[in-house]
Amino acid sequence: MLVEELTQRESIVNTWNHLSDAYQPPLSTRLEDFESYVERIAQNGTTFVCKEGGYLAGGIAVYANDTASKTAFVTQLATMPGFRRKGIGTVLIARACDYSKAKGMTSIKLEVRKNNKRAMAFYKSKDFIFDGDNGDTVYLVRSLV
Ligand SMILES: CC(C)(COP(=O)(O)OP(=O)(O)OC[C@H]1O[C@@H](n2cnc3c(N)ncnc32)[C@H](O)[C@@H]1OP(=O)(O)O)[C@@H](O)C(=O)NCCC(=O)NCCS
Repeated sequence: MLVEELTQRESIVNTWNHLSDAYQPPLSTRLEDFESYVERIAQNGTTFVCKEGGYLAGGIAVYANDTASKTAFVTQLATMPGFRRKGIGTVLIARACDYSKAKGMTSIKLEVRKNNKRAMAFYKSKDFIFDGDNGDTVYLVRSLV
């Protein structure tokens, strides 16, 4: 399993277009302006990908630039269906946490749909705790200190 940070805009855009299909329904159909969303990730976020046998197996996009709150934000995390339950999500979230910590962040947060049982179970297993209700979604947070 190879984990790397993407630095080229084009590879970040291609990666998130590919990982869009890991979501049901695909992320590109779920977000209002997917193209701009991905551009924002490429401009201000950091993307790590995990490759298995040359294939893109998963990716995570994190913002670790809010120096006022010192709270990093995971905007996406996805493992392609054929690669799940092999520890890829675990490696990616660990990488995002290490990176955020190195950037001076003291906690890491994300938003997840309440009906996304897989993701809820995943984040629970990673010690994320409830940090607020937002209707169909909840915020989860984990300390980095
Ligand atoms: C959530 C997601 C990223 C997990 O990725 P993954 O690579 O399969 O995760 P891991 O293999 O590292 O799983 C780690 C632990 O999380 C928990 N977990 C993961 N998937 C689970 C599932 N379907 N049911 C129950 N627990 C689960 C387990 O405790 C698991 O450990 P175990 O396999 O030893 O039991 C993946 O299911 C996914 O991409 N889902 C679609 C996209 C999505 O919803 N992303 C989250 C948006 S907020």
